[in-house]
Amino acid sequence: MLKFNCRNTDSVIIGEENGLDLAQEFDRYGDKIAEIIKSLNQRKDKPEQNLQWMNLGYNEETVWYVKEFASMVERRFDNVLVLGIGGSALGGLAVTEAILKPYWNLLTPEQRNNYPRIFFLDNIDPDSISALLEILDLKKTLVNVITKSGDTVETMSQYMIIKDLMEKELGDDYRKNIVATTDKKMGILRQLADQEGYKIFFVPDDVGGRFSVFSSVGLVPFALVGLDIDKIINGIKDIDLELKSTDIRQNIAAQGALIQYLMDTKKGKKLSVMMPYSNRLKYVSDWYVQLLAESLGKKYNRNGEQVNAGLTPIKAVGATDQHSQMQLFNEGPNDKLITFVRVENFDKELQIPKIFEYTGIGYLGGKTINDLINAEADSTRVSLTDNSRPSITITIDKIDEYNVAQLLYLLEVQTAIAGELYNINTFDQPGVEDSRNYTYALLGRAGYEGSAQNIKEKMASL
Ligand code: PA5
Repeated sequence: MLKFNCRNTDSVIIGEENGLDLAQEFDRYGDKIAEIIKSLNQRKDKPEQNLQWMNLGYNEETVWYVKEFASMVERRFDNVLVLGIGGSALGGLAVTEAILKPYWNLLTPEQRNNYPRIFFLDNIDPDSISALLEILDLKKTLVNVITKSGDTVETMSQYMIIKDLMEKELGDDYRKNIVATTDKKMGILRQLADQEGYKIFFVPDDVGGRFSVFSSVGLVPFALVGLDIDKIINGIKDIDLELKSTDIRQNIAAQGALIQYLMDTKKGKKLSVMMPYSNRLKYVSDWYVQLLAESLGKKYNRNGEQVNAGLTPIKAVGATDQHSQMQLFNEGPNDKLITFVRVENFDKELQIPKIFEYTGIGYLGGKTINDLINAEADSTRVSLTDNSRPSITITIDKIDEYNVAQLLYLLEVQTAIAGELYNINTFDQPGVEDSRNYTYALLGRAGYEGSAQNIKEKMASL
């Protein structure tokens, strides 16, 4: 299980100006938190509540289908190419980067146990797409096109380019190299996938993109590269039981959410830093940035009042950022709550040889890089505390499917509870619609002619 340490947000440790009286706040908000957790669990099975992600640990049927598909295509492909953006890419990227052996795509097939390399496009940069297409042998590539809405412009343009190339290279057989993940009923990809006869996986109803990592959106790519998806599911199931507790003292997601909320509303900590001390968890920060920003950044609350809620997420990685952002974190504006993720046991132990004993670096000899990175994590936490900077530390025993799944699920539940405390809709994203509509207009999509004129006039005057 994960360890969650929030002592460094307590006023006893960092002083009253920046810290919270945790015991008092847990008492004061205990009933409210219990009500929120009860309500989330009561609403989760109801349609249009967008809470079906809370059931993904119990979706045995999907797990079965995903495993069956993965075993059918095993050893047929050298590459998996995931087309998607935002919630349709970031979870997959975060989990595969964390669990697969580092530099996976540079390993030989034997070193990868003959599982394929994996690439996520997650953008529409013409140079990087072209460069990747020069590297990949499309005959040996399985393309997983993922879009819940089925018409996201970035994903569908990636798909159109690649489908066309594949058809030219593979003839009719290209269809065997494409698998679609999309909504059951709606969207253009759903229609096309049926028409083309692709294998299809469905994103369950009421699971939004940034909460979809444990649906087929993530599970398909995970299984294709040999991750143990049973362990992922068991991780979620086990922590889900704990996160259903209505007692804030027993529920670390509730504690994290309340601390985030109070640090923002009472102590002015509007920035939220995610800082794992592990390169393999770097993309967990990218995933979390989207989760936090899109979920809590809202203009209106549920009563229709303008609140402009939200915490600005910041990505950092230890120890690298000790030589970059840490100066700011420690001495700049005291407006941040930092979440550290610390790994107790790395897969490898790397010994520092006992050389240069006659110099100032001699003390390092005989230690391990493992000792060093965790000593840096601890010393940074303490020095931030000395400067009255609040931080939370989540410790995972080791990086594997079980623990990483628990970490992500914890952050999802924490974000959902925080959304309830802010009284906002955690699961919509109206703020991205305007620019999406302008893009449609600029590219001449039918029905957007009025907006096209409007944006052209605005662009000319800006
Ligand atoms: O969290 C979300 O809902 C968004 O970030 C979506 O994941 C993103 O916009 C991609 O949407 P879609 O899966 O419909 O292509």
